[in-house]
Amino acid sequence: MPLDLPAVPSRVVAAPMAGGPSTVELAAAVGDAGGLGSLAAGYRTPAAVAEEVERLRAVSAAPFGVNVFSPVPPGDPARVAAYAELLAPRAAGLGTALGEPVHTDDDHDAKVALLAELRPAVVSFAFGVPPARSVEALHAADVPVWLTVTSPEEAAEAAAAGADALVVQGWEAGGHRGGSDDEPAQLGTLPLLALVRRVTDLPLVAAGGIADGQGVAAVLAAGAALAQLGTAFLRTPEAGTSPAHAAALATDRPTTVTRAFTGRSARALVNRATAELSAAAPAAYPEVHLLTAPLRAAARAAGDAEEMHLWAGEAHVLAEEVPAGELVRRLAAEAREALAAARF
Ligand SMILES: Cc1cc2nc3c(=O)[nH]c(=O)nc-3n(C[C@H](O)[C@H](O)[C@H](O)COP(=O)(O)O)c2cc1C
Repeated sequence: MPLDLPAVPSRVVAAPMAGGPSTVELAAAVGDAGGLGSLAAGYRTPAAVAEEVERLRAVSAAPFGVNVFSPVPPGDPARVAAYAELLAPRAAGLGTALGEPVHTDDDHDAKVALLAELRPAVVSFAFGVPPARSVEALHAADVPVWLTVTSPEEAAEAAAAGADALVVQGWEAGGHRGGSDDEPAQLGTLPLLALVRRVTDLPLVAAGGIADGQGVAAVLAAGAALAQLGTAFLRTPEAGTSPAHAAALATDRPTTVTRAFTGRSARALVNRATAELSAAAPAAYPEVHLLTAPLRAAARAAGDAEEMHLWAGEAHVLAEEVPAGELVRRLAAEAREALAAARF
């Protein structure tokens, strides 16, 4: 039997957002307002994850989730080397050097062992199904496991791997694609939900392009148990979003799915880097992430939005600069109103 979902009165989950945006303050504000807050363990050391969990528990009694990356196979070193050559003048232009493009598993096993010990309300995974030992270790500690899927095939695979709920991530979503890096069908959130409901009875957490209460209502009506929003929280004062990123979100720039920054497909605002690099970027994660990290850090420090990864979902212009707790309460109230108004 799958482990139960935690109680989330607002039905709103603040998505885990690695690389800065997810903070203890954001998770606490969301949890205290009746949402499910998230910590993002991606790119962090196990010690930093432990410290964040401890700090969150000290300021909030609300349940929260922690998100971990699943290990992925290495990319082709020759293609990584060719991409590095292309990037070199850009790094020089920003007064920095490229990083070392090594392959790592982001300390996967150590993070899973830590979380089995710390027992958050949920551990979710991005980048496909994790090794069976990870699911087993969390289940042995009674920790529910949520797996991210982007197709009905992945949903069947995740259900067979013992997922307790599925994060159903549509093509509209901001940030990295959470399942396979190769998605010929590129399914939007609503069709994906409908197709996934036909392959599993597991509870579904819908993600992608949801940025207001009507959007929350839409996915609940489509059979989701919860709605997971990322981009909508990026401009809240509790989020750790860089100022250049937050400012760019408020503009009507289009978005695109690109491997240019990390070597894994992710939705970002179009900028000079996505326009000039997307066609050449290889599928090699985290090699490309590590290669471009100093370049992106230099751009961020200089406030240069053209050379940074500006992760954003398709509805990014709706992201508002409001306190996260207020946003959760507003989303829930709007969703209730929309569902009542739609009854016929
Ligand atoms: C800045 C940013 C960082 C993200 N980082 C993660 C992450 O670390 N782990 C993860 O599972 N999903 C991550 N995501 C994807 C979200 O979980 C979610 O699927 C997405 O935000 C939903 O689409 P929306 O942005 O349109 O709301 C990230 C999204 C954004 C915008």
